Amino acid sequence: MFVLVNLKTYPCDPLEVAEAVRDVDDETDARIAVAPQATHLERVAETGAETWAQHVDPIDYGSNTGHTLAETVADAGADGTLLNHSEQRLKLADIDGAVQAAQRADLETIVCANNPAQIGAAAALGPDAVAVEPPELIGTGTPVSQADPDIVEDAVDAAANVDDDVDVLCGAGISTGDDVVAAGDLGAEGVLLASGVAKADDPRAALEDLVEPL
Ligand code: G3P
Repeated sequence: MFVLVNLKTYPCDPLEVAEAVRDVDDETDARIAVAPQATHLERVAETGAETWAQHVDPIDYGSNTGHTLAETVADAGADGTLLNHSEQRLKLADIDGAVQAAQRADLETIVCANNPAQIGAAAALGPDAVAVEPPELIGTGTPVSQADPDIVEDAVDAAANVDDDVDVLCGAGISTGDDVVAAGDLGAEGVLLASGVAKADDPRAALEDLVEPL
């Protein structure tokens, strides 16, 4: 299973979480990565943790004040990028452009979507993976695998109908090892999560609990 910890703009210590991600990843069969804020990418990547951006823009080098260029994210040490997160929604044409920008910079891509219909559309854009996250469950601590298991299974089917090579992750409310196992049982190849680790008093212990049953 792939476990991607999105730090959003939570007031956690990104280096403390990154060091925990690096160490717990070494101790388990799970693949664990961390997505800090853009300004923390370089320092987080230097810890040796697998590092992802939270977003890149559908742009190339040039006149794009205030935008995030995929090549700069890659230069900072990122291995991949989330796109179209529920908190950073893009128009369809911009998701397409951002996937292409990320691929140009050799970044792995996960396109987020609200529901199975959007997952099908996202998969058609050729990312490495898609992630279904019902926005109403984000940050609630109620796992999508429990509150809405059908949405995960339907997302897996929707992606497979478009492109068998696109992996499917799920997210929202995931905070325990049982939640991760349940996601895998529904056909997901990974999970996206944030508050369960970023808001934990002890992020390392939270991560260890998450991957303990894997
Ligand atoms: O990107 C993951 C995220 O949106 C889920 O957040 O806090 O419900 O784990 P959370």
